[in-house]
Amino acid sequence: MKFGYFDDAKKEYVITSPRTPLPWINYLGSKDFFSLISNTCGGYSFYKDAKLLRLTRYRYNNVPFDSNGHYYYIKEGDTIWNPGWMPTKTELDSYECHHGMGYSTFRSSKNDLSAELTAFVPVDDSCEINKLTLTNNGSAPKTFSVFSYVEFCLWNAMDDMTNFQRNFSTGEVEVHGSAIYHKTEYRERRNHYALYAVNAPIAGFDTDRDSFLGAYGENSAPEVVVTGASKDSMASGWAPVGSHHLSVSLAPGESKTFVFVLAYIENPIDQKWVGRPEDGVINRAPAEALMARYDTTEKADAALAALKEYWDKLLSHFTISSSEEKLDRMVNVWHQYQCMVTFNMSRSASYFESGIGRGMGFRDSCQDLLGFVHLIPDRARERILDIAATQFEDGSAYHQYQPLTKKGNSDIGSGFNDDPLWLIAGAAAYIKETGDYTILDEMTPYDSDPSKATDFMEHLRRSFHYTMEHLGPHGLPLIGRADWNDCLNLNCFSTEPGESFQTFGPSEGPNAESVFIAGMFVRYGKDYAAICRHRGMDDEAAVAEKAIADMEKTVLDAGWDGEWFLRAYDHYKNKVGSKECEEGKIFIEPQGFCVMAEIGLKEGNCLKAMQSVEKYLDTKYGIVLLQPAYHRYHVELGEISSYPPGYKENAGIFCHNNPWISIAETVVGRGSRAWQVYTRTCPAYIEDISEIHRTEPYVYSQMIAGKDARNFGEAKNSWLTGTAAWTFLDVSQYILGIRPDYDGLVIDPCIPSSLDDFTARRDFRGTTYHVTVKNPNHVEKGVISMTVDGKDVDVSGISGGMIPIALADGKKDVNVEVVMG
Ligand code: BGC
Repeated sequence: MKFGYFDDAKKEYVITSPRTPLPWINYLGSKDFFSLISNTCGGYSFYKDAKLLRLTRYRYNNVPFDSNGHYYYIKEGDTIWNPGWMPTKTELDSYECHHGMGYSTFRSSKNDLSAELTAFVPVDDSCEINKLTLTNNGSAPKTFSVFSYVEFCLWNAMDDMTNFQRNFSTGEVEVHGSAIYHKTEYRERRNHYALYAVNAPIAGFDTDRDSFLGAYGENSAPEVVVTGASKDSMASGWAPVGSHHLSVSLAPGESKTFVFVLAYIENPIDQKWVGRPEDGVINRAPAEALMARYDTTEKADAALAALKEYWDKLLSHFTISSSEEKLDRMVNVWHQYQCMVTFNMSRSASYFESGIGRGMGFRDSCQDLLGFVHLIPDRARERILDIAATQFEDGSAYHQYQPLTKKGNSDIGSGFNDDPLWLIAGAAAYIKETGDYTILDEMTPYDSDPSKATDFMEHLRRSFHYTMEHLGPHGLPLIGRADWNDCLNLNCFSTEPGESFQTFGPSEGPNAESVFIAGMFVRYGKDYAAICRHRGMDDEAAVAEKAIADMEKTVLDAGWDGEWFLRAYDHYKNKVGSKECEEGKIFIEPQGFCVMAEIGLKEGNCLKAMQSVEKYLDTKYGIVLLQPAYHRYHVELGEISSYPPGYKENAGIFCHNNPWISIAETVVGRGSRAWQVYTRTCPAYIEDISEIHRTEPYVYSQMIAGKDARNFGEAKNSWLTGTAAWTFLDVSQYILGIRPDYDGLVIDPCIPSSLDDFTARRDFRGTTYHVTVKNPNHVEKGVISMTVDGKDVDVSGISGGMIPIALADGKKDVNVEVVMG
């Protein structure tokens, strides 16, 4: 069942019923100011950091699920309704929510009055614009009221939810004309305030929540709205809110538009006040300047048009045109859109991540880069260096850091032994995309301490050596607290009967090893060695190449189980992910990574591993993480077996590593299978089962319940997942096969035999490549000829064709024709 449809021309998903199985959200904002907005107008805003600078309050895990947002109440006679349906839930005569690129539009109507509300964050300003147009579709004049409503958060979202003994006495506001200023803590620790304004005279306002809602009131029926009269309340402590009252009259057929602005305003510390601080006159000048930028419908429209242009340009860097409508839709729009959102948010703020728990993940953000780097390479560069600056001197890394302070999170600490290698993955992707090796020269601190800086190349060296020098009894990398699979905690084991578990120090024990990290080491080690060679560090390259060759051998000796790659060895040196195990015999991760690393490709291990994945892990909704699921808690394996069978890492369909398998299938040349894996979890391809899948049909979720779960096929944790980057990588670079490399652009498709010819447009290092791929014999892989601007290019050296940079140098456009066969 569907709850909407894709509008490809407008790059929108149009939701046609407010009663979606779960709130289906969108993200507004592309740089500093962000809002989450659901299809019923729920959500909240923050500036840079969802924990430390939250503008509006949201109550997670609430009843109903999504019950706070930026709301507009329309009161005509006794009827009160909202353009987004919530929170009054008044039945609407029509309703549509259009989630587009950085904006959401609600179109709804009640009793011949229609509302069109568009919410967006302009490209260059730290505010959310809400443009509300009301139209009288009836034959008689109408007079009615509009009440806006936001609830302010007292900035630090964690403190806001817990420290009531203080917070109930700190709230402060000012009101000037149609502008409401939320200035809690401005007199003391802050030089910023929030502004909520409208570009029209108001009939009244409220800033105190209890006055607006009424004592014991609810936002589904605020007292002020029910009575139709604002109280001009001034919050003093308690809960500051912002509400404007507009009194509107419309002749038949007439429309009126109002522009609301919710903004984050910061003053330089020495310009906080007008005059003496003790006089308490806040400097409103920047707020007034911002209001002036959006005080007419035309100005708001121009900002929206600029936002659309911004997105059209971003998405033009990679586009395709094929015989598959859904493929084109995902590649041209939604994959890349989700990559941008995950780049901006990491794992901090979604409807499943509270914004106060996790900040930026070291591992997560490095992976997010892989799908983002072609969009805005400069921001990827900055991000890589930010991440590297949190690394420890020995090459290990803080697992997370806070976006505002950019400092490592010491509550979580380090000890995830895959982290260092992801830095190499991110750096390699950046260099392949841009050819910019100067990033390696950037002086970059350790542990955010500038006195401990080295160049970035040295960070990569320490990353590689950290893994190389932390090997276990079989010569495989030590796993530490966990590798990519956060829940496989092999250094947890009971020391006393009846005790739950203990871990070895903050990080690692001497025995537990990861075959997955070994796969990463081989795959990204090759990149490290290539970068060393380019830099003239031949001795170091040779050291790396030798370590990689040794590791490949070790994996084949100690990490191969006969039909698939083992997952790990636990603290007791027992195998994990082996046919010898009672449960958890085969895991997905090492199959994906060892095959992507081509370990045992010639010997046939890779193909065998892929066949085993298909045989043992496949389901109709995607590939599960392991089988058989753990049915009892294994203290020696840690959190993984704490989940009920079929959920999360315990045999859920973890979408993130499905594209690893799809890419791995392209390594063994099985295009139809790579395609099958891609389409099974791909949102556009499963839109028809939205009532089962339940999360948004335009983006990936982290997990779909596996076949062992009661709710098989039901997804959770939408939006913020490494799946976004990995899938875009999979489909663009491996299935369609258009892949940046150090010395040029590789074209090496691995497609299902059913896919017809396709064309692609790819911006790469200043040149636009117009690529046509022809597949006259319907093969799955292999390029037999390639021409660039009509000239033949030798395709014998590598599996696909490489267009050396020199061939395109200086040209704005080149035409490439590739023939598969
Ligand atoms: C985390 C990832 C981790 C994955 C598997 C996600 O929630 O963000 O860092 O790799 O779970 O455990």
